[in-house]
Amino acid sequence: MYQDLKGKVAVVTGGSKGIGNAIAERFGAEKMNVVINYHRDRAGAETAAAAVVKSGGQAEIVQADISTEAGAEKLCQTALDHFGKLDIWVNNAGMEIKAATHELSLADWNKVTAVDQTGVFLGARMALKYFKANHVKGTIINMSSVHEQIPWPTFASYAAAKGSVKLFTKTIAMEYAKDGIRVNAIGPGAINTPINAKKFADQAQYDQTVSMVPMNRIGTPAEVAAGAAWLASSESSYVTGTTLFIDGGMTLYPAFKDGQG
Ligand code: BGC
Repeated sequence: MYQDLKGKVAVVTGGSKGIGNAIAERFGAEKMNVVINYHRDRAGAETAAAAVVKSGGQAEIVQADISTEAGAEKLCQTALDHFGKLDIWVNNAGMEIKAATHELSLADWNKVTAVDQTGVFLGARMALKYFKANHVKGTIINMSSVHEQIPWPTFASYAAAKGSVKLFTKTIAMEYAKDGIRVNAIGPGAINTPINAKKFADQAQYDQTVSMVPMNRIGTPAEVAAGAAWLASSESSYVTGTTLFIDGGMTLYPAFKDGQG
């Protein structure tokens, strides 16, 4: 637990399931006040909100499309209306679509980049506007992926968007460092979340994924949320513009693990 997080106000996009849900819960355990965004899964957001309240925080759930300006504004306004301020913004919402790139439709490319790339820009811009206007030394956390670094055939739109999140994070970290605003990314590897449910239900695909993780296991959403809590807290006060990989070593070139090469 991080003492300084108590009473802080956070927006978490895509908080109804998976990593976003775990971050909301962890922030609740830190006694924070959390605006939990969802797109379609209201029940998931309600479950996350109940967990936050149970551990002593406060929560508001908000339906919003984070790939729109109106969506980002609604989230910020909810934080201000209900909790009177904003300290932390987590751009977590994400999606992926599998397709061979020569067959990837423009519509699907646009769908993925709208959420994974434009959504991150709009959320960060909203938070930065508020932080600047109110002289808040706030923190932004962008959910990237190991695929900001590792190419991912048949997921070109996702990898391209995450690569963009990486340099967007570094750029705005540099731009706003003088204001005391910190901006970091988290790069999860293979985590047990709904985005992977279908893949992990297939034993062969599950084993294949595990074989690419030096630690030999899939990660949990709570393990990613622990990184988000640290990046949100003042324990990481000298950390900005970095990606914290939480991936069991997936980015360490696991093909070399037996000393071949
Ligand atoms: C993706 C997962 C994938 C993992 C490792 C994540 O960014 O969302 O679907 O299992 O990267 O490849």
